[in-house]
Amino acid sequence: MRDEVYRNDRQIVDFAFTAEVAAVFPDMIRRSVPGYETIIPMTGLMAARHLGADGVAFDLGCSLGATTLAILTQNDAEDVRVIGVDTSGPMIEGARANITDPRASFVEADFRDVDLHGASVVVLNLVLQFIEPESRLPALTRIRQSMREDGLLLITEKVRHDGPALHTYYDDTHLAWKRANGYSDLEVSQKRTALENVMRIDTEEAHLERFAAAGFSFAEQWFRCLNWASFMVRP
Ligand SMILES: C[S@@+](CC[C@H](N)C(=O)[O-])C[C@H]1O[C@@H](n2cnc3c(N)ncnc32)[C@H](O)[C@@H]1O
Repeated sequence: MRDEVYRNDRQIVDFAFTAEVAAVFPDMIRRSVPGYETIIPMTGLMAARHLGADGVAFDLGCSLGATTLAILTQNDAEDVRVIGVDTSGPMIEGARANITDPRASFVEADFRDVDLHGASVVVLNLVLQFIEPESRLPALTRIRQSMREDGLLLITEKVRHDGPALHTYYDDTHLAWKRANGYSDLEVSQKRTALENVMRIDTEEAHLERFAAAGFSFAEQWFRCLNWASFMVRP
């Protein structure tokens, strides 16, 4: 279904992953996040290879389960498990309806409250940016302490460039790309206002420092498109 959430003039409240958003989410994210159509299958492939024959992956902030599905599509071992976690009831309902693979399960919860012990793979695609900045390091530290020593964290975030000129260039290019994808000026500006208080982004350097502070010993940016970056991170 086409995303027309911000098509008409509306009273702008903080963005949330409501039923209205869940209904159009695949179209919304595809037209809003540059590189999404590369990031998800590639995350799926990397996670699937790391899982082997019987690993457990957590897809935290799974929304409708796109990454969960991408992982399971790339690994046909009967004993692998992927657990999708999301705070949004409509997203979890949608994921359960969309994905019938018995190796997938979905939990409606805050990922910070979920027991991640024994995870071979943890995915956080476009999620950390939505939690309070002060709880990001504790959340990553908990993931590091729960996951296997040979585990893999795959994380994608919108990032802010340290240099204001380059940040503005990427940002303007992103807005032009959204318009090229059929969003009007009104849609772009209303969505931006709605996200202002709920999506607080960090620089790439802040991410790398936080991975180290959380106890990870290796972090590499494996993908970048404008202001979006994907990292693979290891204990
Ligand atoms: C941009 S979407 C993620 C997209 C998804 N990972 C994908 O790649 O298709 C962000 C999701 O994170 C969820 N979320 C935000 N904070 C969360 C939290 N603390 N625990 C679990 N889910 C959370 C939201 O409900 C939303 O579905």
